[in-house]
Amino acid sequence: MALTSLDAATHVPRSGRRWLVACFVALVACSLVSLCLYTLDEPFSVVERLRTLRTFGNRTARPSQLDLLFPLPDTEFHDFWPNENNRHMHALISCIASDTCGVNQTKIVIFASWDFTYAIEGRVSGENIWANSIMDALDALGYTYFFAFNHDQLAERYRAFPELVKVVIAQSPLVHDCLNDPECIKSPINVLGVPLWKMFGFEFWENSYMPHPLGKPWTLSPVNYASGNTFLGYSVNRTCSLQPFIPHDKRDNQVFVLAKRLSYFFGDRYAWPNVDYSQPPATLKGLSFVAAVWNDTSQERNRKYPVSPKVPKGVVALNDQPLLVDEFFLEVASSKLLLGIGDPPLSPSPYDALCLGVPFLNPVVSYDKANPENRTAWITQHDGLKFQPEPYVYHVLKHPDMETRTRLFWEAAERAVSTPIQRYMPEEMTPAAVTARVSAFVEADWRSRAELVIEEFKAQGKKLTGLTL
Ligand SMILES: *[C@@H]1O[C@H](CO)[C@@H](O)[C@H](O)[C@H]1NC(C)=O
Ligand SMILES: *[C@@H]1O[C@H](CO)[C@@H](O)[C@H](O)[C@H]1NC(C)=O
Ligand SMILES: *[C@@H]1O[C@H](CO)[C@@H](O)[C@H](O)[C@H]1NC(C)=O
Ligand SMILES: *[C@@H]1O[C@H](CO)[C@@H](O)[C@H](O)[C@H]1NC(C)=O
Ligand SMILES: *[C@@H]1O[C@H](CO)[C@@H](O)[C@H](O)[C@H]1NC(C)=O
Repeated sequence: MALTSLDAATHVPRSGRRWLVACFVALVACSLVSLCLYTLDEPFSVVERLRTLRTFGNRTARPSQLDLLFPLPDTEFHDFWPNENNRHMHALISCIASDTCGVNQTKIVIFASWDFTYAIEGRVSGENIWANSIMDALDALGYTYFFAFNHDQLAERYRAFPELVKVVIAQSPLVHDCLNDPECIKSPINVLGVPLWKMFGFEFWENSYMPHPLGKPWTLSPVNYASGNTFLGYSVNRTCSLQPFIPHDKRDNQVFVLAKRLSYFFGDRYAWPNVDYSQPPATLKGLSFVAAVWNDTSQERNRKYPVSPKVPKGVVALNDQPLLVDEFFLEVASSKLLLGIGDPPLSPSPYDALCLGVPFLNPVVSYDKANPENRTAWITQHDGLKFQPEPYVYHVLKHPDMETRTRLFWEAAERAVSTPIQRYMPEEMTPAAVTARVSAFVEADWRSRAELVIEEFKAQGKKLTGLTL
């Protein structure tokens, strides 16, 4: 019953709208405010409770009084995710009540991942940057989204709008938390629970350590791994375009070394052990190398360090902590090259650099010796960029002969430092490209895809839980 009325709420004629609005608001109020009052084995108690809340619902349906139900903070700071939830709830109920919803506003995405809540608070890990970009895309498309910090909150939010929620983007462990909790996952005894096919794992790396039971398409990726995962990608444009572009001739004669941690210089992945940064070839005379390095060597113990490890000779450490975001952008924008040293893999920073008009040197960690130019066979520090050509991305093979490797390194550095570029953004990482992929992802018919997967499971005699569509 609850499902039918919610479903209808998006298509009913105006005359029937008033009580539906009341019903809808009361349902939401009931679900969110008095969650503690109903229990798992009474999935329709929400509807029963509507009767007692009818007058409340009729009054609250007026947008001007929504503040009582979902108070908005005085400030305009978008820095606290529960406030964002209220803001979005307010906008959704208000538009339904006044019949002014945008075409996509009654389609909901729930984020059950602290990568999104942290992104709201201004953190800037790769995951947070990716999360921000997805929120930008949903904003551009006019969808509604809510945050949940754990699977209990996910179950609550979902229960309020089961038919309106298109997808749930969750931390992989949270998908499993929900799957393993009968009060979260949809089942014959929890018909307002979250169906497995609507939940997607949000994973920065190619292989999830907690794979999704329905298979790879249910894992979302920031990079096009071409491995069967669903590629969403991200764009750094919003933050980067706020930073000034510094013309080449106004920059320092410097290379910014992408090396956030001191341990990166001492692992197997360190690409340039034989390079003496203090002795560049004559053509690069006066070129300096700077980095912002955090000394993590006392914590990161599984590498071999010399006594009192230091950054390599010739590299100036600007700071003993990661730089603040603005300082980082300014230092990179004032440089002529961002230098990859092997670690960290797949960092968003090279996209920032390119967007500031600074090329990136990407070490090629492994390649086909018989055909070194075959990029498909390459493994690089940043595989998202391995098909990008010069003068944007300079690829240098980790040649086994150290002299050759060092020569290739300096030759590439010289070409990069002497070839100015404008701001650059790979096509697939533009905001428009991200928005198009997010749109296709949210609108895809995942239910039908899941049905096919479940058929296959059945044919193979696999026993799996959480398969209620
Ligand atoms: C709900 O509100 C409308 C318009 O304000 C009013 O006409 C109607 O009588 C109310 N219904 C109830 C059950 O209070
Ligand atoms: C609504 O969503 C669809 C599918 O994602 C998209 O193509 C369309 O542009 C969106 N409409 C608006 C007004 O943003
Ligand atoms: C990046 O953002 C700026 C400022 O909003 C905008 O002018 C520019 O068109 C964007 N670039 C792309 C590639 O979308
Ligand atoms: C980093 O820490 C190690 C161990 O605590 C210390 O020996 C070394 O001098 C430090 N290096 C720098 C550059 O601060
Ligand atoms: C390039 O490498 C890929 C992946 O290893 C391989 O499938 C392909 O045949 C190679 N192409 C050429 C021209 O060697």
